[in-house]
Amino acid sequence: MSVLAFASTNAAMFRVGWYDRARIPPPSPVGVIFSLLMLGAGLAWTVHIERSTSKSRRDRVAGPKLMLTCITVAVALQSVLFMTIPDPDSARHPIDDLIQAADAQHAEWLAAASASTDVSMAAKTYRQRYGRDPPPRFDKWWRYCELQAPLIVDDFDSIHQDLLPFWSVSPKELRERTWEAIANPANMVSGISIRNGRLTKSPYTPEDHRWMIEGILNMMRPFARWLPDMDLAINLNDEPRVAIPWRDLQSMLAAAGRNTTSTLQVDDEDDFTPNANRDWKKIELAAIEESRFRDETFRPSFYTYGSVGCPPSSLARKDRHWKWHEHCSACEAPHKTGQFISNFTQAGEICHQPDLADLHGFYIAPATFRTTHELMPIFSQSKAGPYQDILYPSPWNFEEIAQYLPNEKMPDYEWIEKEPVLFWRGSTSEGYGTSTGTWKGMTRQRMVHMFNNATKSEKATILLPESKAEDASYSYRAMEPQDLHEHLPTSIRIADHIERCAGRDCDEQMSEFQPQLVPFAEFQSHWKYKYLIDADGAGFSGRFIPFLQSKSLPFKTSLFREWWQSRITAWKHFVPLDVRLKETWSVLAYFHGWREGPGTKKGQEKWLMAPHEQEGEQIAMAGREWAEQVLRKEDMEIYFFRLL
Ligand SMILES: *[C@@H]1O[C@H](CO)[C@@H](O)[C@H](O)[C@H]1NC(C)=O
Ligand SMILES: *[C@@H]1O[C@H](CO)[C@@H](O)[C@H](O)[C@H]1NC(C)=O
Ligand SMILES: *[C@@H]1O[C@H](CO)[C@@H](O)[C@H](O)[C@H]1NC(C)=O
Repeated sequence: MSVLAFASTNAAMFRVGWYDRARIPPPSPVGVIFSLLMLGAGLAWTVHIERSTSKSRRDRVAGPKLMLTCITVAVALQSVLFMTIPDPDSARHPIDDLIQAADAQHAEWLAAASASTDVSMAAKTYRQRYGRDPPPRFDKWWRYCELQAPLIVDDFDSIHQDLLPFWSVSPKELRERTWEAIANPANMVSGISIRNGRLTKSPYTPEDHRWMIEGILNMMRPFARWLPDMDLAINLNDEPRVAIPWRDLQSMLAAAGRNTTSTLQVDDEDDFTPNANRDWKKIELAAIEESRFRDETFRPSFYTYGSVGCPPSSLARKDRHWKWHEHCSACEAPHKTGQFISNFTQAGEICHQPDLADLHGFYIAPATFRTTHELMPIFSQSKAGPYQDILYPSPWNFEEIAQYLPNEKMPDYEWIEKEPVLFWRGSTSEGYGTSTGTWKGMTRQRMVHMFNNATKSEKATILLPESKAEDASYSYRAMEPQDLHEHLPTSIRIADHIERCAGRDCDEQMSEFQPQLVPFAEFQSHWKYKYLIDADGAGFSGRFIPFLQSKSLPFKTSLFREWWQSRITAWKHFVPLDVRLKETWSVLAYFHGWREGPGTKKGQEKWLMAPHEQEGEQIAMAGREWAEQVLRKEDMEIYFFRLL
């Protein structure tokens, strides 16, 4: 029996190895022969046991002899075939597969996200997806959709997830907490009041944040008349604010599950609570001095806030020994295929990634951070990991403060005319260098170092074919910085000056970055380059949407997630990079190609790995077209209307 089991497992292994994993494998003749030989070996052994009492020596050795022959032939067959038949899996670059998978994933998502054609279907989908009734005036929202014709009308999962814990809090308490947050200016929270469809700002709106509040008002105006009376607490900082400990969050979610809409009937079934106006306290400047927010600016925040929402059994809560210079491959393995991100959603979930504590400015030392462990209804433009802020479309994007606006002097070139350079300009604004030397862990600084000042010993691993042959298999190779620069052009620099640092962290950054500082790039000059990197600053990205809108190909490394996260698909609309950045050179090599020798003239190159121009252009254009369809200002309004 055991022989049979071994033989059939082996046959199965053969089939799986040699055929496309995605399809049901056809029966493999080699597997069958192998199984038969192993079966023969088993029979020979059985016969041998039966005959072991026989007097004749020939009879006694015949069994073992036959068995040995069968096994030898089977094993030889197996090894010969393993040597001569290439494994098609290794002859394909994993990025080819990731692009293909992203296409399918996106198509499936889109079908479910855009199915409803009328309001009753949309309401039905709402109940199915979110297990509760849509809010009053859902029909008004739908009417608004009919006017703006959005593609996405059903998938608003992030709204559901963001609001879910608040169902455990009574409306009275929610009003109280909102008032508290806005009434103390030290909280850096501004307010917007809606009364009878009219919008007003709270008295506390600092001058340098006027653009933000004005932008939100502009976004709300078209639909404000359908909103119930309420106040909104707007986070003026870039960093998220609300970190609920895991255990508390679990009980909130359990209570939220019990408080479904049907058990919370409002007076008039079809509308919001009438006269909610009288339930909201008037907001006056400096009304209170108490605060549930603590100022944790400049302090490490991963263990105290960043990961408190993770389960106690998760690595982020248990493991504490990672340092930025030790690579933790176990931390990234769950969301990667080989070197490359295979699940961008998961890459943003921090609970399996304890090393992030030392790899991001927001966790190392946030430049501003007023935070709480209590559930406060705070509207933020982005958040990382398990923060419970309520996401809304960034007024920075709505107001197009960084705008995709190519002009005659700085046009957006066609793909083939663009310079094949990986380009980034930015400032050291991700976190604060607190004179502890920890600036070296921050993503932006690691990135600039890696592309400009990596030493001979800081090799990068890149995936290349072993030869020029069509079916050559790929393998990872460690390369010295000089080799990489000879093959792959990049321009990744800090612009203007070193900011957000003190003492030693300033000195060290000065000595590394000062000689290579460049002037700020005119925003429209980005479109000259094929590949653009977007790397986290202190919060939401101001430039990602314009990057998508352009004909250039955006690479994005990011922990922060924004309102659009579910509608944009990694490897379909942009190229994802891990926060550790280890694969960046390798990804660039895939798109740019890898010449056989260094420094060959353009047009005469012999490629070890041919450039993937078509793939690059395809993603750049898919992102551009998709942004025109689902990241319009109208789409931001529709998301915000539905949220409110
Ligand atoms: C929801 O549930 C919690 C606890 O079960 C309760 O305290 C709260 O008042 C409920 N919310 C509403 C709106 O009734
Ligand atoms: C990606 O990860 C998320 C969260 O871990 C998971 O829900 C989702 O199914 C994964 N997607 C794929 C395509 O595996
Ligand atoms: C870092 O690289 C830049 C540009 O390549 C160079 O100007 C600078 O001197 C280097 N700094 C150090 C400390 O090596």
